[in-house]
Order: sequence, then structure tokens, then C-alpha cells
Amino acid sequence: MSIFCIRLNQKRELNKIKEEKNPYLNIIVKSFLEVKLNKKLNDHLEVFKLCERYRKNLLKDDRIITYEIFGLSKKIKVKEICKKATSSPIWAQFLYLIIDKLSTPFVLEIGTNLGVSGTYILSAIKNKKNSFFITMEGVPALCKIAQSQFSSIASKKKFQIIQGLYNNTFPKLIAQNLNFNILFIDGNHRKNDTLYYFNSLISNKELQCIMIFDDINWSAEMQECWSIIRKNPIVSYSINYYKWGIIIIDQSTSKFHQHFYFHLDY
Ligand SMILES: C[S@@+](CC[C@H](N)C(=O)[O-])C[C@H]1O[C@@H](n2cnc3c(N)ncnc32)[C@H](O)[C@@H]1O
Repeated sequence: MSIFCIRLNQKRELNKIKEEKNPYLNIIVKSFLEVKLNKKLNDHLEVFKLCERYRKNLLKDDRIITYEIFGLSKKIKVKEICKKATSSPIWAQFLYLIIDKLSTPFVLEIGTNLGVSGTYILSAIKNKKNSFFITMEGVPALCKIAQSQFSSIASKKKFQIIQGLYNNTFPKLIAQNLNFNILFIDGNHRKNDTLYYFNSLISNKELQCIMIFDDINWSAEMQECWSIIRKNPIVSYSINYYKWGIIIIDQSTSKFHQHFYFHLDY
């Protein structure tokens, strides 16, 4: 569907969603409208300012990061990584607003990078009881930078950075059978890998969650991947935001495969 049509149909889609009366769908739509229309953001402006101060510092950071862990000889400055790989303010704030509305968020992020999205995530959970944030990253130097930033936001009891290649770290995480209720999949944008993460995560039959996939239109294989994920029988609702694809897994609803389209930004 073209972005023009998505924008044109937005009101109708919003009405359809309201009729569903699903708590997870409501949280997503509320957060979407807040960030899109810049409404009710006053309570969060201070937090957003602090999160963006971190990005601003990274954009001046000349430290060099190496990628030996992937068998690559490339060397990139932190400021370049920050420009290219991190979530932009609008998407990071959308993520923050969703997490902020969950009473006990248990967050998994695949793709820590410099901890820019993680800064928003941790800021959203830091004052909530029974909440925790796990994030995964291969590059040791990126983990170190993110660790130092996260420690300045919240107690170490609130977060864990799992360092290592996902091939090694992901099976160990899955073996713990954790009940995440919000997941941000922003690591390895390859079809087979993303499907492997998805299928492993849904092997937990208790899973009741919002799962966000970044860059679903990044490549033909990611488009294919999104199309497979959203049609999986476990998915109750899916929302295509062009950049993000969000699914809701909610065993308490009998509705399956309701699909919605919205547009926020590229
Ligand atoms: C797009 S960045 C994440 C951006 C971050 N979520 C943000 O918005 O600030 C993806 C990260 O995943 C890591 N990554 C990709 N493939 C990986 C793999 N197979 N094992 C471990 N880390 C991986 C990369 O090193 C990179 O830092």
C-alpha cells in the first residue's frame, strides 16, 4: 500500500482499532498519536532532552570502534555509527511512550549498538517496580559505551547487556524461557536470522507481548520476512508503520490476523 493511501485511510484505521478494545493496541495507538501530533508530551520533555543530550555527545565522539568480532577489518568512529545506526528521536520517543504505558515492562532489545534506543528504554522503566531491560550486542566496545551510559541512568539491578554474537548468546537467552512483554528487534536485519529470533521467542507459549521489528522495508528480504511474521497464526494484530512492523501476541483475544497500516516517519 502506498504511503499516500496509508495517510488517507488513517482515520478509518484508527476507528477500526478503537472498536477492537485491545489494551496493547490502545497503548500503541495512544503513543503513536502523542508522538505524531506532539500531544501530551510535556511530562516527558525533560527525559527526552536528557536522552538527546547523550546522542549529541556521541555525535562529537571520535573514538574508533573495530568489528573483529564479525571477522571484519572495518574501523568506524563513534560519531559515524551514531549517525547511521541509531534510532532517530521520533522512533525512540515512540518506543519510550509505549514502554511508559506498560505497568511492569520486561523489555528485550536485540541490537544495543551505542545504547541510544536503550537510553530511552531504561529511562521509561527506571522508576517502575518489577521492570527489567535486557539488551544484546556483539561488539565489545559498543557494550562498554552503552554500559557506562546505562549506569548513569539506573541501578545495575534494572538492566543487563548480553555481549556476544547472537548465534552464541540467543540460544542461551531462549533457554531461560523469559516472559518479555515488549521486544524491540533491531539487530541483524537478515530474513533468516530475524525469523530464527521470532520463531525461538514464540516457542514460549506464555508469551503475551508487543514485538517491534525495525526496518521492515529496508530490503526485499526484510519485506518478505515481515510478511511471514505477520501471517503467523500466533499473531493477533499487526501494524505496519512502514519503518516499523509491530505485532501483538495476545492469547486472551480470539481475534487473529487483524492488520493495520499507519505512517509516522521514514
Ligand atoms: C541498528 S543497530 C541497533 C541500534 C539501536 N537499537 C538504537 O536504535 O540505538 C544493530 C546492532 O546490532 C549488532 N549486531 C548485528 N548483528 C549481530 C550479531 N549477529 N550478533 C551480535 N550483534 C549483532 C550490531 O553490531 C549493531 O550494533
